[in-house]
Order: sequence, then C-alpha cells, then structure tokens
Amino acid sequence: MKVPFFDLKRQYEQLKPEIWQAMNRVMDQTAFSGGPFVSQLETELAAFNETGFAVGVNNGTNAIQLALLALGIGPGDEVIVPANTFIATAWGVSYVGATPVFADCDPMTWNLDPVDAERKISPKTKAIIGVHLYGQPFNIDALSRLCNEKGIHLMEDNAQAMGATYKGRKVGQFGVLSTTSFYPGKNLGAYGEGGAVFGHDPALGETIQMLKNHGSRERYYHEALGFNMRMEGLQAAVLSVKLPHLPAWNQRRQFIAKAYRQLNHPRLQFQAPETHAESVYHLAVVIPDDKQAFLTHLENEGVGYAFHYPVPCHLQKAYAHLGYQKGDFPHAEHLAENGVSLPMFPEMSDAELERVLEILKKF
Ligand SMILES: Cc1ncc(COP(=O)(O)O)c(C=O)c1O
Repeated sequence: MKVPFFDLKRQYEQLKPEIWQAMNRVMDQTAFSGGPFVSQLETELAAFNETGFAVGVNNGTNAIQLALLALGIGPGDEVIVPANTFIATAWGVSYVGATPVFADCDPMTWNLDPVDAERKISPKTKAIIGVHLYGQPFNIDALSRLCNEKGIHLMEDNAQAMGATYKGRKVGQFGVLSTTSFYPGKNLGAYGEGGAVFGHDPALGETIQMLKNHGSRERYYHEALGFNMRMEGLQAAVLSVKLPHLPAWNQRRQFIAKAYRQLNHPRLQFQAPETHAESVYHLAVVIPDDKQAFLTHLENEGVGYAFHYPVPCHLQKAYAHLGYQKGDFPHAEHLAENGVSLPMFPEMSDAELERVLEILKKF
C-alpha cells in the first residue's frame, strides 16, 4: 500500500454537497468580491480566534503586509523574523519597505528562540513576528515579555496553526495583530487563495479594511495608498462551510501525530512540545539520524514525504543583499538540511497510519 504525503481530494469528496450549496448561494447573489459572505466569515473567524475582529483578505502573505502597514511599520524599520519559516513571513516585511532581521530557532522546539530574538533587537526594531511553526505555538510568554520590555509589537504569523492553543486559549489572539493563510493545503484551506488579519483594537481593524479596499472607507474616496487585497465571496463561503469542521480535523491530526511520536523512535527527532502549547500539527516533521537512508527507506516502501523548508530564509537568493552566510543560524540550517515531513492530513485512514507506523518501526 502506498501512502501519499497529502491528499486534498478526500476532504472535498466528503464536503461536496455542502460546498456546492454554499458556492451556489454566492453565485445567486453575485457576491463575488467582498460582500456579505466575507463579512459573515469575518464574524465567524473572530469568534473562533477569540479576537475583536477578523479581516478577510486575498492571501496570507498580503495579510502580513497589511498588518505591518496598519502598525505604521515601513522604510528604515526592522522586524525580527525566524530564519526557518516559509519565506512569506519575510516578504511581508520587505513589501512595506522594512528590513527583515532573522533570528535562529530553538534546537528542540524549532520555534523562534527568544534569546536569539533579543540579541537581534536594535534601536530600529519595531516588531517581532513569531511563527507557530508546523502548527505548534511558539513561546508566547517569553516573546510577549520581551516585546513589552522593549516597547515593540508582537505579531503572530498563524498561517500554520489555526485552532492551536496556548494556556488553553487559541493562538492568533496574543499578538497586537495576527495573520493567517487559507492556502488550500493549510489546516483551514480555501478553494483558491485567502488569508485574514486578526486583532482586538477596532481602529486597526478599520485601517486594514480600508487598506485592503483601495484605501477607501467610502466608495471612490481614497484616503491612503491602498491595495486590492479583498477576499473573494466564493472563498469566504467555502471557508464558512469548513470552519466548523476544523476542530475535528485538528483532533485527527493530533491523533496521527501522537501515534508517530509514541513510537519513541531512537533514530527520529520530533519537534519538542513548547510548554503550555497544544499543536495542531499542520506538518509532522522529523529529523532522522541519516536523512538519505531514511528517504530511501520511505521511497522503497511507498510512503510520501516532503521538505519544509529546504533553504532557510537567510540563505535564499532573494535575500543575498542582506549579507547573511551559512553558519549564521545553525539550528535553522540543521532543520532545513535534515527535516523530513511525514504524511499528515486528517483524511489519512487508520490502515494508512498503521502502514506508516510499521514502516517507521522498520527504519
Ligand atoms: C508561515 C507562513 N506564513 C505565510 C504564508 C503565506 O500565506 P499565503 O500562501 O496564503 O500567501 C504561509 C503559507 O503559504 C506560511 O506557511
């Protein structure tokens, strides 16, 4: 039996009638860009994340850009970002004209190391963007404390952890603003592109609504350089169908991850849990003691895998001008060089899970 790394089609098959009904409602109302379906989703998302507001936008990358703009961050400013994240966390910073300053991860939790983040703070630093990597909340207490002490903003890039909790509360409500992505492969994915910004201060929410809509609060009156970063009605309708399922999907991911971890495999290092945090396992990444041998084994046995992410941000060609070098962030580099993502999606069957467990045991 082959086990895929991921299979989006199975979930669609389960939801098909509901999805088509929801999409039909959008079509009947021709509410394609922004509109009532987006507003409804925004209300549902804010309730889910326990925030004052949610603003639906066109994707998770622009969500970060809009959040930084709303905080007044721009040219001359620095924003600290983990070296081991999907590049989009850093893009958001660059798009507003600020400079991403990378920091290393903790060697066990693979999340932003608060000690290294503190070392990277300069008089130009305006914010830290923590990323709940692979679905696991970062050390929110330590980074909040650091940001409070230094008088800078804490933002959460919550693209990978919708529904995860820290001290029993959903992540995405701790930073001054948080963002998420509804890229199809995410725990809560649209059928196209989508994203959102969350926060508590209504003035920030209104600014982000204005910026995403051509800098306009009133049609054809533009008060700031804005963007067309609106969410589509069809995506909002799909997400409203899917949101109520998210807790059960996340539980299934947790069940699969627990089964992997309980192998206590002496040759596989898992992401160590952060204290007080409950991961929703967007990904199940391991560091094997011999990557090539592990990949050959998975291939021979027909188990899918992937890499997240093979090149850390500071070593990407696009950021060569920032002058970082190999060796600058040893833990992020070790993870990039050796991390392997195992099959992880809620629709994975028990038989497939058993099969992966059996193959892991044989390694
Ligand atoms: C950590 C992280 N940040 C930002 C993004 C960007 O989201 P999007 O692809 O919706 O632009 C993603 C996912 O793609 C992500 O994983």
